[in-house]
Amino acid sequence: MRPVQRPKLTVESVLQMKTVSPVSALTAYDHPTARLLDEAGVHILLVGDSLGMVVLGYPDTTHVTLDDMLHHTRAVARAKPSALIGGDLPIHTYRTPDEALSSARRLRDAGADFVKAEGGREILPQIEAILADGIPFCGHLGMLPQHVLEEGGKYRIKGRDDAGRQQLLRDAAALNSIGVFACVLELVTPPVASEITLQCSRMLTIGIGSGPDCDGQILVTPDLVGGFPWFTPRFVVPRARTGNTIREVAAGWTQELRLPSR
Ligand code: KIV
Repeated sequence: MRPVQRPKLTVESVLQMKTVSPVSALTAYDHPTARLLDEAGVHILLVGDSLGMVVLGYPDTTHVTLDDMLHHTRAVARAKPSALIGGDLPIHTYRTPDEALSSARRLRDAGADFVKAEGGREILPQIEAILADGIPFCGHLGMLPQHVLEEGGKYRIKGRDDAGRQQLLRDAAALNSIGVFACVLELVTPPVASEITLQCSRMLTIGIGSGPDCDGQILVTPDLVGGFPWFTPRFVVPRARTGNTIREVAAGWTQELRLPSR
């Protein structure tokens, strides 16, 4: 496959894809993966705090620090991708508008083209502070992994009942109205994800486990390529088994080793 050559994408150029062509987004946590995904033509590389599980070996994202995110964002930025680079604000780094702004600035300085944080109307002042500084922002609604412990350790589907649907629609409308350019919808029931996508005309919806009717889709790259074979979310069918390949190649190489002749 020949690498895709293209100019640097901007938040504006990606936003213009709404209703025109689907936006592809994948997570990247390191330099070579960022280069490969960029050469494949992916539009958005998200340095997600999912790195806590699939790279750092934590049970969930609640252990990830801003320093972890800065380290991996810099590695991705060194790939100088045409794709937009997104940086996740980890838990406890956006509790107030001042804290959110300071954390977002650090991610931007590390190379993020936009930042993402989890939540709706309850974090509007934080989002407004970030936007007022000229840093593009991506929302994250539905299942919020940073709140998994409050949810009893379960990743639950959102928008199943009318109260849940109303809450999602109101949160999405609030983000759309203040100038958030995109919003991840994670584990939102497909009809509600579709409704949000139709109603929020100024913002891209990027679904994960939320059905096909979003403006774009995002996956955790190791889930897509079978790079973390010990756990695969139910909504992902891996397209490769890179974990198996690594095991086989390493085992074959190990078995072929010989002692030096004496
Ligand atoms: O952290 C992450 O990788 C994410 C995606 C699952 C959207 O937030």
